[in-house]
Amino acid sequence: MITSNPMSVRHPNTKIDTFSRRILNWFDTHGRHDLPWQQHKTDTPNPYIVWLSEVMLQQTQVTTVIPYFHRFMDSFPTVQDLANADWDMVAEHWAGLGYYARARNLHKGAKQLVEIINDTGDFPQTVEDWEAISGVGRSTAGAIVAMGLHGYGVICDGNVKRVLTRWAGVEGDITKSATNKELWALAERLTPADDSGHFAQAMMDMGATLCTRRNPSCEACPIHADCIAYAEGRPEFYPVKAKKKPKPSKFSNALVIQNHKHEILWLQRPDSGIWGGLWVLPLQFEKKTLGKKVVATSAEDSVYESENTVAEQIVDKWLVDNSLCADSITDGLLEAAPIKHTLTHFHWYLQPKQLILDNKQSIALTQHLEKADINLVWLSANEAKTTLGLPKAMLKVLQVLS
Ligand code: ADE
Repeated sequence: MITSNPMSVRHPNTKIDTFSRRILNWFDTHGRHDLPWQQHKTDTPNPYIVWLSEVMLQQTQVTTVIPYFHRFMDSFPTVQDLANADWDMVAEHWAGLGYYARARNLHKGAKQLVEIINDTGDFPQTVEDWEAISGVGRSTAGAIVAMGLHGYGVICDGNVKRVLTRWAGVEGDITKSATNKELWALAERLTPADDSGHFAQAMMDMGATLCTRRNPSCEACPIHADCIAYAEGRPEFYPVKAKKKPKPSKFSNALVIQNHKHEILWLQRPDSGIWGGLWVLPLQFEKKTLGKKVVATSAEDSVYESENTVAEQIVDKWLVDNSLCADSITDGLLEAAPIKHTLTHFHWYLQPKQLILDNKQSIALTQHLEKADINLVWLSANEAKTTLGLPKAMLKVLQVLS
């Protein structure tokens, strides 16, 4: 066990040594013990369940995750079921949870895990081996080993960082690697060797229920007596985080191209990039300068032009070659687009545009796309909603349409 005091921590060792006991006592009576993925009450923990839930819980609230978790477990009760599932089925189960790269990593990770299980007879057993699985970072790997294998694992996610920066008065910017190194050292120092699983869950619960970003419940906190932020009377000052640059805005038309049966053309996006592997409407990215009011913050016009996928470029050219033009469904310029959708790195303004093709035209377009090996389907709005696992922004487009 490491006994040194991480350099900038201002607490004496006595406070450090009682930290985990105070947290664990609090967890016994005030922690969350009924979350559906928890494995602390069983002697035979299931690492698949912990891995699945931890990936779902990255950047997503517990209450949002619970129904998704149940659906996943119903449809894919084992890692083998998940690995053998079609991607479309996985995407459909993930639809609405956001950060779709997580779903792709989960599917890829399941295949990697099955390979390891087939080779070794079991799930990976160490933090390092879990870190080699797609989508599993250092903290997630620590959580899986601690809670899913009842081994020794350390976590230091956003919740834990908030608790630790406050308790230890760490003023460094948590987006900087030096601060992260310091927080990881502190987390390692504080994690008890024999009960890291309970401790991990307890720290998550502390961060989620007491040591919240706004209005923390300091009076009820088991470590407030030696919390530096509390003593300073400024818990909300921590964690210090550099202000993010404002997100740039992007604009695109979302083409609702329909055949004579009113089925809509859906294209599967390439695996990398926005909405990788998901089915979406053909998009046309636009330069930011349309209209009077410029909302975009990016200086690079080319950003807006280069984003169309190969499939979208083919659709675009086919429309031009056939003198066809989609009509705006709602009035107005792109920046007044009815749909604003915020993704990790930008705001996206979407203007739905509709075009109805006759039978000959839709067959010609289909053949044209198929010749280029583009994955496409024609489905009604309802069929698409129930079978394709559409991202939220596409559901918003369909809503405007109806
Ligand atoms: N956030 C990340 N992991 C969690 C867990 N196991 N329980 C509750 N919230 C979490």
